[in-house]
Amino acid sequence: MEDMNADQGLLVATGVRKTYRTGSVEVTALLDLDLVVCHGEMVAVTGPSGSGKTTLLNCLSGLDDIDAGRVEVDGHDLFAMSDAARTEHRARTMGFVFQAFNLIPVFSAVENVELPLLLVGTRPREARRRALEMLDRVGLGHRVEHRPSEMSGGEQQRVTIARALAGRPAIVWADEPTGNLDSAMADQVMDLLCELNRDEGQTIVLVTHDSAIGARVPRLIRMRDGRLVDDVGQTVRARAPIPDVPMG
Ligand SMILES: Nc1ncnc2c1ncn2[C@@H]1O[C@H](COP(=O)(O)OP(=O)(O)O)[C@@H](O)[C@H]1O
Ligand SMILES: [Mg+2]
Repeated sequence: MEDMNADQGLLVATGVRKTYRTGSVEVTALLDLDLVVCHGEMVAVTGPSGSGKTTLLNCLSGLDDIDAGRVEVDGHDLFAMSDAARTEHRARTMGFVFQAFNLIPVFSAVENVELPLLLVGTRPREARRRALEMLDRVGLGHRVEHRPSEMSGGEQQRVTIARALAGRPAIVWADEPTGNLDSAMADQVMDLLCELNRDEGQTIVLVTHDSAIGARVPRLIRMRDGRLVDDVGQTVRARAPIPDVPMG
């Protein structure tokens, strides 16, 4: 079962539509969007401001609802489950990195990284061990007791990457992860994300308005007005979906 899902794509989105309604104004931010991302791929989604990149990330990760279509992650239909099941599925299969680091200011680096592990029931000793290992992995083994305010922006973003990866998620979503960083720190963060994909096969979907950042990523997708207009360099081909037949 696992292998069949792997061949069909880790993320399979079909006909996804999202319309925001504010008073009498409607904005269709995603228009019948289809996307397959396979295990081990790193994908950058670029496009101008307002083209729907953040909406794509929020809808395909199940952080936000959709108006039509279907999204499967790791073999599970996100919008066929209850909100509670979706939240649980997200905690177990997805990691997130945002432009604003969203670290807890009174927690040290290691406490920030272990928190999501503790929330899914990992034993404290194991959570601490794993958090320290991940901080070491992102080059912050010497900063584990520092609070966010005692670290540079680049270091804080590396803490969030350690936090996103600590639970060994199937997929990591990153929304403008370098948006708050100067170019040297942005390069470091991109180097780290590319390395995690290349060396460890971490599946990553990154959205950015910065085409120079997009150009560093193996597969580059461009969006305009809620549609995918270009998709170059797909690294792993998805097999045609296997029809739903009852098992046994
Ligand atoms: N919460 C919201 N309510 C109403 N409109 C929204 C909301 N979020 C985004 N939009 C609109 O949807 C479109 C896509 O936005 P977004 O996904 O944030 O684009 P991007 O991340 O590419 O800049 C834009 O026209 C934006 O104004
Ligand atoms: Mg955005």
